[in-house]
Amino acid sequence: MSSPSPQPDPLAFEKPWARSAAGANTLDPESPRSSPRVVPTIYERTTASALAHQAINLGQGFPDTEGPDWLLELAAQSITDPSSGPRNQYAPGMGLSELRASISSAQRRRQGLDLHPETQVMVTTGATEGISATILAFAQPGSEVLTFEPHYDSYGACVALAGARMVGVPLRGPEFRPDVDALEAAITERTSMILLNTPHNPTGTVFSTEELGRIVELAKKHDLRIMCDEVYEHLVLSDAALPHRSILTVEGAEQVAVAVGSAGKSFSVTGWKVGWVTGGAELISQIRGVKQFLSFSSGPAFQWAVAQGLEDDRGFFARNTAELEAGRDLLREGLHDLGLAPNAAEAGYFVLGDVSGLTSLSAVDFCRILAEEVGVAAIPVSALTIQHTAQPMDELQRLVRFAFCKDHTTITEALRRMREHLPAALAAHPAHERASEPAARR
Ligand SMILES: Cc1ncc(COP(=O)(O)O)c(C=O)c1O
Repeated sequence: MSSPSPQPDPLAFEKPWARSAAGANTLDPESPRSSPRVVPTIYERTTASALAHQAINLGQGFPDTEGPDWLLELAAQSITDPSSGPRNQYAPGMGLSELRASISSAQRRRQGLDLHPETQVMVTTGATEGISATILAFAQPGSEVLTFEPHYDSYGACVALAGARMVGVPLRGPEFRPDVDALEAAITERTSMILLNTPHNPTGTVFSTEELGRIVELAKKHDLRIMCDEVYEHLVLSDAALPHRSILTVEGAEQVAVAVGSAGKSFSVTGWKVGWVTGGAELISQIRGVKQFLSFSSGPAFQWAVAQGLEDDRGFFARNTAELEAGRDLLREGLHDLGLAPNAAEAGYFVLGDVSGLTSLSAVDFCRILAEEVGVAAIPVSALTIQHTAQPMDELQRLVRFAFCKDHTTITEALRRMREHLPAALAAHPAHERASEPAARR
């Protein structure tokens, strides 16, 4: 079995660009260590490979439908109708006041939070900028940053850019629940931050209030900062065992934690890049110190439309999760029949398949065969791990991430291709050995 493209320790590099790329597993493994080359993100590489092989793209997590028409019209109107306000010039650095007010009122309705719109809500250029600004604000050089693995790739890039070291605590299947004892055991005197993601990409795990509470206690005890990425807050499916609870609902969390949200994920407008960071006024003002020199501000017309969408979503969130759930069920059923033991996938856009019931090959090899010979693109979960510390045979190296935020015809065709071509394509690989016991997780 070949392991994922090994990536060097990011801190072995002097230049920030090389650290950032190694931290996000985007250094070309074929390039010499002395003159490394950067490759695009795993998502862009998967999309490019899907195009090159005319494969169906279940790799990149974007919906193949547009956001609701009324929301698109609000943004268009905001750009072209001067009477609706100066929507084509700089927005305030903290974001349009209309959007800050509606983020605050949405968090009050949904989570019972009381966030002051002027001091406790900051609009960012996508959740991505909120994540970057928060990590760069709190992860001092030489410190350690803890996260559960697998994790969203931008965390690793920013931690490395800050000159800090990422330390992973694996989420183990089939439940993928956070092991808070293991997290605690990983804390050292160098730890500066904990990065959380609930609902979690790619496992779909929704963290419980108890788990969040214990983590906040740890942060208080050790004087750590928490960045809790909650971009999938509106995408919890109806059969999830737990509702989404923001980290900020834990008593006293605002002293140590901020939450990050995304209009792109919430309204299926991922290209708009409107996100936000919420939390205690002091932490928000510290993060602002970084954020205002990243983008300063962006997309006032999009911000204006999102402000109205959050005030009244016109039933979109419920319709969207019902559609996602139907796609999830279709994909899970098909992956189960193929022997890929799908996880429960209770939230977000993704379902995980475990290749070990089908083949001895790694998920990296599996995904290459899948794209090139079967015509379906997916992402090996190892691309979302800290590769310079990864164990080649670890469970995380056998998992594949498939996106279900796609049209049903697309999912059905992907499953048909897999049913018809996958067994022969795997059998033709010299290193393939069939597993003796098919995985039967459901
Ligand atoms: C866990 C997670 N956080 C953040 C983001 C980025 O969000 P945005 O597009 O709002 O920058 C994504 C996008 O895929 C994600 O999956």
